[in-house]
Amino acid sequence: MSILCTGGTGFIGSHTAVELLCVNQDVVIVDDLSNSSASVVDRIEVITGKRPVFYKGDVADKAVMEKVFSENSIDAVIHFAGFKAVGESVQIPVAYYRNNLDSTLTLLETMKKYGCHRFIFSSSATVYGTSDKVPFTEDAKELGCTNPYGWTKFMIEQILKDAAAADPELSVVLLRYFNPIGAHASGMIGEKPNGIPNNLMPYITQVAAGIRDHLSVFGDDYPTPDGTGVRDYIHVVDLAKGHVAAYNYSTEHTGCEVFNLGTGIGYSVLDIVHAFEEANSLKIPYEIAPRRAGDIATCYASTEKAEKVLGWKAELSLQDMCRDSWRWQCGKWSK
Ligand code: WQD
Repeated sequence: MSILCTGGTGFIGSHTAVELLCVNQDVVIVDDLSNSSASVVDRIEVITGKRPVFYKGDVADKAVMEKVFSENSIDAVIHFAGFKAVGESVQIPVAYYRNNLDSTLTLLETMKKYGCHRFIFSSSATVYGTSDKVPFTEDAKELGCTNPYGWTKFMIEQILKDAAAADPELSVVLLRYFNPIGAHASGMIGEKPNGIPNNLMPYITQVAAGIRDHLSVFGDDYPTPDGTGVRDYIHVVDLAKGHVAAYNYSTEHTGCEVFNLGTGIGYSVLDIVHAFEEANSLKIPYEIAPRRAGDIATCYASTEKAEKVLGWKAELSLQDMCRDSWRWQCGKWSK
């Protein structure tokens, strides 16, 4: 039996594939390589000593998914594939809805046809919207999103909740990520943004590498300890291990369950800058800039449910996140 990781050559997907292979699971990856490269498969094999089965293709394409499910015995699906750039989603919302929702619907239809009943979804804390009731708990009244990317996550959660309600055999696990950063200790896989990074840590590492001149800190007038935005940064390897725990949970589960995957600790932008400087003995030049549209002041997770029900808790430190991010940036595969 194999676990299908859609988008499995991407940042979170590749790290999850590594952790699944390391606990002797067989992995199949489908990825259209629109935001990653096939060489990630080779690197996963070097890291783990085992090669996942790989298909290049669009998850929304029924013919592709027919081929994957007819050639492999898929036991569960972890669905990472999707467009994920907040700013881009505002520019081309229809492409985001078409891609992210179609891939999910095609997956559900193909899974049904081939008797696959376990669906783990890469969701996001962005579905909590502009709530100011931190820490965010899974039963929070989701207040809606501030961009089309977030709405696709919100809508896919709803599709999956309805699918689980209609199919007593189906297990759906929704994993709401907070802010994944860091990279595998090997330095061989990591986050490789296209163009100018939207997210904080890849921007910081590119400043450290001299690719960017300085960091713009988007606002220092938020109601936070130092005025800069506070987020729950989680090491991507911890996040990947959270997926292994979710897979194990799904073997004895039906219905739909939501889990936050975060650390429960909020760090400000300047906390991250200073931690990165200290962990790597370097300076990060920065300038205070205006707030970024759509940003909220503070966001961090309640982690109780994942700890109690999944038996999972993040273990790696902010120093680990900063050191592993820098090692990845310095390596040849981030270029
Ligand atoms: C973090 C903090 C910025 C860049 C996004 C998505 C979310 C999830 C994670 C996918 C904020 C500040 C950032 C910069 C800055 N992605 N910042 N200068 O916005 O919390 O979450 O990525 O699921 O869905 O919304 O992450 O890294 O962009 O920002 O000052 O150049 O860093 O204002 O306070 P965010 P981020």
